[in-house]
Amino acid sequence: MSVYEHIIVEGKGAVGVITLNRPKMLNALSFGVFREIAAAVDDLEADDAIGCIVITGSEKAFAAGADIKEMQPKSFIDMFSSDFTAIGGDRVARCRKPTIAAVSGYALGGGCELAMMCDFIICSDTARFGQPEITLGTIPGIGGTQRLTRAIGKAKAMDLCLTGRMMDAAEAERAGLVSRIVPADKLMDEVMAAAEKIAAMSRPAAAMAKEAVNRAFETPLSEGMNVERNLFHATFALEDRAEGMAAFIEKRKPVNKNR
Ligand code: CAA
Repeated sequence: MSVYEHIIVEGKGAVGVITLNRPKMLNALSFGVFREIAAAVDDLEADDAIGCIVITGSEKAFAAGADIKEMQPKSFIDMFSSDFTAIGGDRVARCRKPTIAAVSGYALGGGCELAMMCDFIICSDTARFGQPEITLGTIPGIGGTQRLTRAIGKAKAMDLCLTGRMMDAAEAERAGLVSRIVPADKLMDEVMAAAEKIAAMSRPAAAMAKEAVNRAFETPLSEGMNVERNLFHATFALEDRAEGMAAFIEKRKPVNKNR
């Protein structure tokens, strides 16, 4: 396991929890934070005990964006050479295990983008989402113009990216950015329950379901349907599929082996 300075990484049963831990800076995402998140995903993905990963922040902020104080003196060549967006943008999205963002308070700029890299977002009623980069004279750099537009459509994505305004939890749910809103004091209970449920499923089936849904964002419908069909057929090679269907017929709970 790696040693972490800006995040806390815990294995809670079959769930790996990554908690952003820079409270004084509202979990601003520095290069170091992104490197640690990437290392934590490496560690948790390699750990056979873990079946689902949760990324969360504090009650006040999931993350208020990339670290503006760190970015302020940087030049084009600094940003281009460090490939900040690749470090920050790829690892969580490339994780093969299911991921959930548990968002309370601010999820702005890189914070909103980090949440969107997860497979789905469960937020508290205090959550605020936005892409305020325009107010700093810049634009989103790790998915705010791309994943957000795919998630909520052009009209709202343009509105958020061009005005820099924040969206509350209810608007985010209506727009399809979040899957559920829960009271702030119940957020982690609800997220952990969902994560434990996912971790108890057939691991390969969960990975295939995730891969198939993600293909919907990358391919035309006919290609996506092909991928889905091939993966669906592949599940018939899984012991867990045989067990799952047998258990249904025998009116008992399935015992998944491939986890
Ligand atoms: N980077 C660095 N520091 C930040 C920060 C950020 N993104 N967000 C907040 N902080 C710091 C503040 O500077 C402040 O530090 P000091 O006490 O040393 O002054 C501390 O966190 C607390 O913040 P505030 O006093 O501002 O708290 P608030 O409750 O009054 O306001 C807020 C909260 C509305 C979220 C406000 O902090 C804010 O607007 N933050 C910046 C949001 C933003 O613009 N994010 C986009 C960043 S750019 C980006 O993300 C690029 C990309 O796509 C990769």
